[in-house]
Amino acid sequence: MGLTSPLIKRAALFSVAGLFVLAPGALFVGAAHAANYNPTETSRRDAGTPNSTIVIKNKAGTVIEYGNKYILYNAPPSKLDNLGKALFMENCASCHGTQADGIPANGTVGAYPDLVGLGPATVDFWVVSGRMPSANPRVVEASRRQPRLTPNQALAIAAWVNSLAPSIPLIPTPNLANANVSDGAALFALNCASCHTIEGDGDALAASTFSPSLRNIPAYQVVEAIRTGPANMPRFTGNLSDQQVLDVTKYVTTEIQHPNNPGGFGLGGLGPVAEGFVGLLLGVGVLVLVCYWIGERE
Ligand code: HEC
Ligand code: HEC
Repeated sequence: MGLTSPLIKRAALFSVAGLFVLAPGALFVGAAHAANYNPTETSRRDAGTPNSTIVIKNKAGTVIEYGNKYILYNAPPSKLDNLGKALFMENCASCHGTQADGIPANGTVGAYPDLVGLGPATVDFWVVSGRMPSANPRVVEASRRQPRLTPNQALAIAAWVNSLAPSIPLIPTPNLANANVSDGAALFALNCASCHTIEGDGDALAASTFSPSLRNIPAYQVVEAIRTGPANMPRFTGNLSDQQVLDVTKYVTTEIQHPNNPGGFGLGGLGPVAEGFVGLLLGVGVLVLVCYWIGERE
């Protein structure tokens, strides 16, 4: 006893000291990594239609429906064109112009993106997620808010903008019954967790942008985001099939929105590294106490 207890004491002190030296180091490395992160910029025009088994065209030869048993994409009905035009003039034209072709960066009033040819899913997504009409055009990143327009009004605006130059992606309807949620979890870890975190809570990106939380987003809007890549998010087209997009969407709308914490405490979903530190601190603390107790007893 006399020989082992000082050794145990020393080992315990070393491990505690080690923790305090290593933990800030690990956090520093993590922060440096985040600051160097450079989000991909993509053009959102005509995002592709991977593996469509259904392709339906109208009389003019324009594709108005495509997809497969996983996701079906539909053009907004052209009978909404006139309503959409009126809504656009009222809510959008002041910034994006009466022809929806935007204002270039060298204009005198600011730069507003050209919306012609972006595809109905892009226009719909920005309106149904409340990002548009913009309240503050100077903000670095428009974020999800209470929508100012109804889903039908958003669809009407998408219909009119699309009538100027018919384009894809069209509005998706995911068929979640055909999804595989465990494949979705793996695909999410590979393609999405780097920005949105494995728990889907979102995180800061470079230059005061951030990746938002993915909780409480309707499935079709998750598909719209994946297929159109809003702002700093990359657009996933040929690299993810509709089946894979459906699997990820099911994972996002079921597992992430109702997380189950098998270990008991969720610790606010901080992620494995931070949760590991909490485990380590508690565990080592208890061990140190046990060591002192053994050491002092003779
Ligand atoms: C006050 C000015 C303003 C108004 C009004 C406005 N927008 Fe925007 N819109 C912007 C700005 C600025 C951006 C760029 C925002 C960003 O990148 O985060 C933008 C971006 C968009 C985008 C994304 C473009 C792209 O290339 O991905 C869409 C789609 C859009 N707006 C549609 C609309 C629609 C539809 C309306 C009307 C319901 C509308 N906006 C009203 C200023 C405005
Ligand atoms: C490079 C970082 C990055 C990756 C990778 C990424 N996203 Fe995003 N995501 C973002 C950013 C940034 C936004 C916010 C865009 C904006 O400003 O409107 C976003 C927005 C979203 C939204 C809309 C959230 C809202 O509040 O309306 C959804 C849904 C989404 N992402 C899902 C995904 C899925 C699913 C994947 C993987 C297939 C993924 N993202 C991959 C950065 C990323």
